[in-house]
Amino acid sequence: MEPSPLQKTRYAYRPKLPSSLSGPIEKLACDRLAPALPDTDRDELRGLFPRTFGKPAVMLGSGKAEVESAKKARTIGIILSGGPAPGGHNVIAGIFDALKAANPASRMIGFRGGPGGLVEDKSMEIDAALVDRYRNTGGFDMIGSGRTKIETPEQFERALQTAKKRGLDAVVVVGGDDSNTNAAVLAEFFADRGEAISVIGVPKTIDGDLKSAMVESSFGFDTATKLYSELAGNIARDAASGRKYWHFIKLMGRSASHITLECALQVRPNVAIISEEVEAKRLGLSQIVGTIADSVAGRSAKGENFGIVLVPEGLLEFVPEIKVLIDELNEILAADEEAFKALSNDHQRVAFVLERLDHESKAVFEHLPEDIQAQLLWDRDPHGNVQFSRIETEKLLAEMVGRRLALYTKEGDYSGKYDFQTHFLGYEGRCAFPSNFDADYCYSLGYTAFGLVAADLSGYLSSVRNLAAPAAEWVAGGLPLVSLMNIERRHGQDKPVIRKALVDLEGAPFKTFAAARDAWAQSSDYRVPGGIQYFGPAEVADVVTETLKLERKSGAQGAR
Ligand code: FBP
Repeated sequence: MEPSPLQKTRYAYRPKLPSSLSGPIEKLACDRLAPALPDTDRDELRGLFPRTFGKPAVMLGSGKAEVESAKKARTIGIILSGGPAPGGHNVIAGIFDALKAANPASRMIGFRGGPGGLVEDKSMEIDAALVDRYRNTGGFDMIGSGRTKIETPEQFERALQTAKKRGLDAVVVVGGDDSNTNAAVLAEFFADRGEAISVIGVPKTIDGDLKSAMVESSFGFDTATKLYSELAGNIARDAASGRKYWHFIKLMGRSASHITLECALQVRPNVAIISEEVEAKRLGLSQIVGTIADSVAGRSAKGENFGIVLVPEGLLEFVPEIKVLIDELNEILAADEEAFKALSNDHQRVAFVLERLDHESKAVFEHLPEDIQAQLLWDRDPHGNVQFSRIETEKLLAEMVGRRLALYTKEGDYSGKYDFQTHFLGYEGRCAFPSNFDADYCYSLGYTAFGLVAADLSGYLSSVRNLAAPAAEWVAGGLPLVSLMNIERRHGQDKPVIRKALVDLEGAPFKTFAAARDAWAQSSDYRVPGGIQYFGPAEVADVVTETLKLERKSGAQGAR
């Protein structure tokens, strides 16, 4: 297909690399730092990952320990896993350019459709012409993505057979917490079998919840939040122009509210719900509805029958009574999977769980609207997660606020007019042209992943830090995947998984929001961020998220 004018121009963009990676590849150095250990569950994790536990964090580029075999000819396989995030193609370009600069005889192989491509041996050669067609573009369509989890002994065996058949020296897995958990298990499996095939992870997810002191942000968060903030800002201006609707905007992010928080800092809505606060303060659905209804009533008293509410996609899982309900539902569905799958309609499915829920959860479930009940029973994803993008939380809240306002009216506390519109901003952000930040970051992550492979490391996550500074000052390195893990209950069983980094209520981004929100609740002075700028002065084209800026200012980053 004929590329758009923007796409043609973006082909010419040269991503910026940290200056520590900009030298000749044969001079690449890898310095080993102190062992990086998980925060919790150390004994269990040591037992489960005897070969990859307790490895050191590493820094690439500027040190003395030169990588001896940097110029060796290698074959690297790549997997894009989970939901797309802007910049994935630049990870591939970064690996490819480093690989070819090190040795033009090296090869890169893409596994199609996610981790399943490695198991099923669905692969394709990635050459220079292909990479050039995808540089600085959004999407994962060069090789496709998928959510297959490699978990059975047979799948591991088949993945190993494919890797050997394709002559792989390394597999790079680009994914979120679940996919990098898979990468950690695969690295341990290859090591256990005595195979010198490294497995390297790359932190991807628009959700922004694959994060630690050494992983300041997952890629894609920057572009996606800029795009959602543009749209939410435009909707806010429409609300202030038409003056007749409350807009309930659900924002993607399966569990953590990082996206909602960033968009709130950008747009300054009347209400933004942060799931982590809801959980910490044990706020029930009724209290959340009350907060929104109070803002509606307060603004209405001033003649402002319009407003903006931001709702995180994963909210319901953090509402205490709904969380208990979801945990119980997960156990019921896991215990009686076959019987449940045999049911043919929502009515039967709802009746099935009602018979099995305990007294309190049953009452909660019965009070939910029928469509939400059915949505809570839809298939979990292959990692056992509820698919919150399919649950219409924004509609649930908008309707419940309407009911609460009717009560206020009866009590004589409200006489305004309440009309609402609902929106879900999610899929439109995941394949946008990467911002300059994500284009640079992803290319650097890819380059770094190559460096980790060249240093013969396995079970590591590619890490590029100091991200609030200009790209030249970024710091490249690697972090053992096991150091990010803990044990959690999934599908009714205890499993080792990479810990999701939720919004820190003591962190600067949340505190900044919390200090301002009462004023925003009654204000119509929304901030309109506008679209992503790819060209122009650095203060608009290279600007980083408020989250990164605030974390940097408070010293939360680069602590280790
Ligand atoms: P990843 O964790 O794989 O990056 O996916 C993130 C996400 O975009 C979530 O925000 C959302 O809940 C989910 O994917 C939607 O998944 P799907 O593409 O399978 O509908």
